[in-house]
Amino acid sequence: MQHHRVKITDTTLRDGHQSLWATRMRTEDMLPIAEKLDQMGYHSLEVWGGATFDVCMRYLYEDPWERLRAIKSIVKNTPLQMLLRGQSVVGYTHYPDDIVEAFVHKAVENGMDIIRIFDALNDVRNMETAIKATKAAGGHAQATVSYTVSPVHTVENYLQTAEQLAEMGADSICIKDMAGLLAPYKAYELVKLYKEKIGLPVQLHCHYIGGMAVGSYLKAIEAGVDVIDTASVPLAFGASQPPVETVVRALKSTPFDTGLSLRSLFDAADYFEKMRKDYGKERGVTRINDMKVFDHQVPGGMITNLVSQLEEQKALDRLDEVLVEIPKVREELGFPPLVTPTSQIVGTQAVLNVLTGKRYKLIPGEVRSYVQGLYGEPPATIDPAISRKVLKDKEMITCRPADLLEPKLDKLREEIKDLAESEEDVISYAMFPQIARRFFKARARGELAAKGKAEAEKAKKVTSSGKLKVSKEGKKVNLNELKELIKILNDTDISEIELESDGVKVAIKKGAGHGETSVITAPEVTDVPAPEVKSAPVQNTGAEAENKAPEVDDKDLESVTAPMVGTFYQAPSPDADPFVEVGQKVEAGQTLCIIEAMKLMNEIEVEFSGQVVEILVENGQPVEYGQPMFKIKKS
Ligand code: CO
Repeated sequence: MQHHRVKITDTTLRDGHQSLWATRMRTEDMLPIAEKLDQMGYHSLEVWGGATFDVCMRYLYEDPWERLRAIKSIVKNTPLQMLLRGQSVVGYTHYPDDIVEAFVHKAVENGMDIIRIFDALNDVRNMETAIKATKAAGGHAQATVSYTVSPVHTVENYLQTAEQLAEMGADSICIKDMAGLLAPYKAYELVKLYKEKIGLPVQLHCHYIGGMAVGSYLKAIEAGVDVIDTASVPLAFGASQPPVETVVRALKSTPFDTGLSLRSLFDAADYFEKMRKDYGKERGVTRINDMKVFDHQVPGGMITNLVSQLEEQKALDRLDEVLVEIPKVREELGFPPLVTPTSQIVGTQAVLNVLTGKRYKLIPGEVRSYVQGLYGEPPATIDPAISRKVLKDKEMITCRPADLLEPKLDKLREEIKDLAESEEDVISYAMFPQIARRFFKARARGELAAKGKAEAEKAKKVTSSGKLKVSKEGKKVNLNELKELIKILNDTDISEIELESDGVKVAIKKGAGHGETSVITAPEVTDVPAPEVKSAPVQNTGAEAENKAPEVDDKDLESVTAPMVGTFYQAPSPDADPFVEVGQKVEAGQTLCIIEAMKLMNEIEVEFSGQVVEILVENGQPVEYGQPMFKIKKS
């Protein structure tokens, strides 16, 4: 065996706290340990990108660019690394090329060395602009192959993807195992193939979850992998990476010895362990549902999201049915890897299929966009029957989605010129317009420190994942009550409401996480609005819509009932002005109303033709599952 020192990327300051602490580690807590990490002998430190950019402005009232510069001013020897979502950069939708290029350019200028670029569908066209921009800016472009398991994700398919990325100019290849699905012997096969055929350095990024990651690292090392990703032990295990200490010890006195000092690593671990306790966070743990990814292939973070969706629909008992439905939907949609945003596209469709009892009866806009090709090319052909049903008269696009987007940076610069203090600000605004604007305003008023401190205090009280957790066995909060209260907050000057619901005390504060996008949590995006658990109960207002339909005997009179729990909105009508109204004739397949649920707008269609006799719900009112909304006289 030849000598082949394995290099290590430390992910503690990015993926570690993104996976375990909802990305809430603050810059002021990173800087005191930065010099120590710099001296450790790591290949690189992953400190930026993914959700850190968003969370900095949204929750921490920090400037993400300042974080990057502050770390760079201390870390002088070790390259800095970031995660970039291809054409979605650090956001959730595709941005025009001029924004992608400007972001990458500024990232490198502010100190970023290695940019890891991935696309949820492994569509290389969505990575090309970022790869080229990284190289043009003088950075190291690490192109990524997202690992998943499906009949089309063969070794040949992975080889082809990596070859295309190499042709685009990638400086190295990352195999990204976001769901912890990469088995050790598959890791060996894949790495060996890449080393033989691609001729670029290969880095392996595994999540611990079901415990295969350490084994996969060892086999990948035998196959010649150049770099592996780990985190300091207090931020390792569970949904995060394997601990660095384990890997360093495992390789000690072998030809692969990392050269890292265990004593120094434990010094850093002590620092992070104290921080973990100060933040009030749990360790990385693996729940059995997380591990069942081996069975149903649904990543743990996605299950957390499904649980809250089903809880909202008062249908948590149907989780098992949804877990059976997900692989079917995934196959029909062309086997996308389940990572942001495809995980919520597949997950939400599966939930709707189960809840409505009729598959693809309700199709969210995001699923339509996906089928239309607006996220890129799916790994396999979409089931023709499904695409016909979803697309109807719409055409599928075959070009790169961003080819349809006009340059936008100049317009945005003009829009935000009164608040932006730098080109970096303009780019932040391009990423998250509403969040950035709120952040700039707070900065202009000198409120960043105070708001940041308030958030930090709050974060200590939030559960470790930072989300409203319904998985606290036996304790359930009525999400509809919460929704009502959040609505009251938004409509009034009241800034905080507390209530006690089913034995859990909840406080909701204005601005405590009202997102601007319709994105739902997933393994790489762990933020949903987080009502925090706090003391002092308050009377529950319990405002419920009293819209019970009168029982009608008429055989021709049909009820249209709500297929889900949500908020009822009247639908624009082609005939009446402006909405569907009483007395109006409707055609089978016409949209009767819209129900907002699970952060998506769902169009509810009428299944038969007739005349609207009665509308039983008022615009903007909540509806329960099965609640009659319309009475229609069949024709
Ligand atoms: Co990761």
